[in-house]
Amino acid sequence: MENGRADTVRIVGLNHHFGAGEARTQILQDITLAIQPGELVILTGPSGCGKTTLLTLIGGLRQVQEGSLRVLGREMAGLTDAGLIEVRRDIGFIFQAHNLFESLTALQNVRMAMELKRNDPDGMRRDAVRALESVGLGHRVHYKPKGLSGGQRQRVAIARALVNRPRLVLADEPTAALDKESTGTVMDLLDALKAEGSTILIVTHDNKILGRADRIVSMADRQIKSNVTAETFQVCEFLRNCPILTGLGADELASVAAQVASERHPAGTEVIRQGDEGDKFYLIKDGKAEVFVRDDTSTRRVRVLARGDYFGEVALMSNRPRTATVLAIDDLDLYVLDKASFRAAIDSIASFQQRLREVFSRRQ
Ligand SMILES: Nc1ncnc2c1ncn2[C@@H]1O[C@H](COP(=O)(O)OP(=O)(O)OP(=O)(O)O)[C@@H](O)[C@H]1O
Ligand SMILES: [Mg+2]
Repeated sequence: MENGRADTVRIVGLNHHFGAGEARTQILQDITLAIQPGELVILTGPSGCGKTTLLTLIGGLRQVQEGSLRVLGREMAGLTDAGLIEVRRDIGFIFQAHNLFESLTALQNVRMAMELKRNDPDGMRRDAVRALESVGLGHRVHYKPKGLSGGQRQRVAIARALVNRPRLVLADEPTAALDKESTGTVMDLLDALKAEGSTILIVTHDNKILGRADRIVSMADRQIKSNVTAETFQVCEFLRNCPILTGLGADELASVAAQVASERHPAGTEVIRQGDEGDKFYLIKDGKAEVFVRDDTSTRRVRVLARGDYFGEVALMSNRPRTATVLAIDDLDLYVLDKASFRAAIDSIASFQQRLREVFSRRQ
């Protein structure tokens, strides 16, 4: 329980193996994860790391082998097949292989999902048509899967998953076969469902939809490696690609990212001024800046900085005034660490500290 409400999904110490004897292979290792009601969580990670296996366990499509997995208030470990079927009724599945019935029309495929729950043929027909309209297939309700494109079939599967307004939606690459517009439509539908209180877990490699998530969980090598807000995740991805931070572990990146703020400086404005006291460290997210150094006789432009470059560290490390002025050439988007966070970061991250010291001595 958290905040007095039961988690929609609560996993503790989950392990999973495939195969037997010598072929037995561990696929999931010590997975611990909680998803609260109404959250939209994205699960990401390299191919083969176990995402689909985890999703199918949460969906009651496989038996739990080891550990605890609670879904919608029920412990899945030890449930009989009948118990698992019961839990599955409250879940909407959107899976890679969309499993439409080839002999049924789009409308009949969507209607099927309601058969176990309802007994009002007219209402079911109306809701099925409405669900298909909402995924942009109002003009294809009487088509069978073989007459639909891959993306259209995927949208039928989505209509089918959402028609019952499930409390939990599990989606495996739901936008993989879709163009940009259909991806937007599908994400809008999932957002609308979330607004009604559904909890949504999406496996995806689609960077375009990361911003829609409340949280992003990354898996690698059978394990969960990080579990952060979408904003922190995007900062981490940016930091990971900054040369100065290359090689930092996920935990170190996440701890730095958690303290980063964003700033925007319009073209032509001064970000720091030579001689001022230094209070912040800057990384360039977007735009260009120029660095000027003034001495007794002249002012020289010493370099141009762009995305991924950084500045402002010298004054923070030396406790002396700024040694240069930095001007925004065009609108400049920056990630910023204040002095205390910067010092805490470099103190806690030995490799980061080492690299900064190297650069610092070169810039003296
Ligand atoms: N039924 C099975 N029997 C044996 N091994 C399996 C089975 N299903 C999956 N695996 C193996 O388990 C590992 C994880 O598979 P899984 O499908 O969960 O990966 P994934 O993260 O979803 O990958 P992808 O992004 O490619 O879909 C893989 O090495 C896969 O080969
Ligand atoms: Mg998969």
